[in-house]
Amino acid sequence: MRSCQGGGSGATSRMERDDMPLDRRLRQEILFARERVYRFGQATPLERLILPGPGPEIWVKREDLSAVKSYKWRGACNRMAVLTRAEAKRGVVTASAGNHAQGVALAARALGISARIYMPRSTPKVKQSAVLHHGGELVRIYLSGDSYDEAVHAARKDERETGAVYVHAYDDLQVMAGQGTLADEVVLSGQGPFDAAYLQIGGGGLAAGVSTWLKTYWPDIEIIGVESVGQASMKAALTAGEPVTLEQLDLFCDGTAVRKAGDLPFQICRHTLSRVETVTNREVSQAMRTLWEGLRCIAEPAGAMGLAAVLKNRADLLGKRVLVVLCGANIDFLQLGVIAQSVGWANQAGRTLRVRIPERPGTMLELLDRCFAGINIADFQYGKSGERDAWPVFTLTADDPVTLEALPAKLDTGGFLWEDLTDAVDVMFRAIPLRGDLLHHPAFLRLDFHERAGALHDFLDHHIRGTASICYFNYRQSGERIGRALIGLDFPSRGARDALMRSIPSHGDGYRLCEPLDDATCSRLTGG
Ligand SMILES: Cc1ncc(COP(=O)(O)O)c(C=O)c1O
Repeated sequence: MRSCQGGGSGATSRMERDDMPLDRRLRQEILFARERVYRFGQATPLERLILPGPGPEIWVKREDLSAVKSYKWRGACNRMAVLTRAEAKRGVVTASAGNHAQGVALAARALGISARIYMPRSTPKVKQSAVLHHGGELVRIYLSGDSYDEAVHAARKDERETGAVYVHAYDDLQVMAGQGTLADEVVLSGQGPFDAAYLQIGGGGLAAGVSTWLKTYWPDIEIIGVESVGQASMKAALTAGEPVTLEQLDLFCDGTAVRKAGDLPFQICRHTLSRVETVTNREVSQAMRTLWEGLRCIAEPAGAMGLAAVLKNRADLLGKRVLVVLCGANIDFLQLGVIAQSVGWANQAGRTLRVRIPERPGTMLELLDRCFAGINIADFQYGKSGERDAWPVFTLTADDPVTLEALPAKLDTGGFLWEDLTDAVDVMFRAIPLRGDLLHHPAFLRLDFHERAGALHDFLDHHIRGTASICYFNYRQSGERIGRALIGLDFPSRGARDALMRSIPSHGDGYRLCEPLDDATCSRLTGG
């Protein structure tokens, strides 16, 4: 076990320090933290992010490259390094959304102190296993409640019952000071001064420590706090004049999902922040993509919030030198897939439309030919549910928004009635109604085609046009080079159906698999 040391060294006595204003104490504690934290971890790089087109000069502090893949080791190690021997013997307890827990685990092992860690039940697996990895035998995880605050409740109860020392994730001078060391590395990088820093906020510990240190060196720097729309606790605190509890909390950016800003961070941030910006989950996802494309690094949602706010304000920041902190990369692999998919469309202009076409063979292709030529169909959902009219739903994307803006006029001219269903819940959940009782002689095909403009159209044109009408369509662009669709066809006679099913090649020009579905699957699809 390494020995624990008391408060910071230096000329100022403890009593004098306690009388100092909070910002001065924090500044002094950051000085002391600089002497402590590098026993536990290493400085992280500051990297330039170059994006196409005009905009600010963006620098990214790569906290994702630290041992715990977030900046949280700094505050936790700094706090636990000043535990007295008696406190260390009692052990520590904490609550965390997952990243602070890893910092505590790392410090616990390095200092030989036992730690009990409470996290919400929904904490990503990657964060749970990392805690055990860093803390080994010295840590125990307790999953409690559905939010950070519920985990805090359980951890505070533990503190009362056992006398263990509570290591707060942000509302603690030593923790804020530890986080401030990342700002010191920015100062020492020689890339400053910066015109602005966009700092994400959960409870406010990172923003308090980092803003204080940056302003010490660069008093004119503009510090912008960044929160996601469903978690804007610092903004609420600034408006109310004190930390207030949010009733609803969005969990997409799980690292920053905190209902109430910390008291100490609030006291600092109310003076250092020029303003707080809120970003949407979609903007955060887009920023994650930008980080991947520009630096080939993966951020967890909370880690990309700062960049999301910069991208939103790109035009106003033209010519400025801007700092963002990629403060965490602890994301479950599965969540990455979902985000990548959602952002695939968000990157382009997109619109979901439900279009009416008469229920007769060939009309679907006519619509594609007349109105959708040159437009990418990212999603196509249709199930026959009426005798006379069909209402297929298309999500259409284009690099150039003008192409999509021209679409309504094209549909109107073509005599197609339409409705905008962008973000509609049934479309999002792919709830595709199909009335099997309206079908005559249906057949269903699984089709894997090469995802290039026109491939699907060509397949329908060459093999289906004039023979059958489309009664079902389920296709979503996946970003793989192969598009996978489930297609239902309705034939006027059993003979026509059997003839086509026998003759259609299993692969051909533009597609690599065409496979009729078995009777049991067809029957489930038609409710038979
Ligand atoms: C990745 C990430 N970013 C930002 C924050 C917000 O930190 P703070 O609570 O210090 O504001 C957290 C908190 O855990 C985090 O994990």
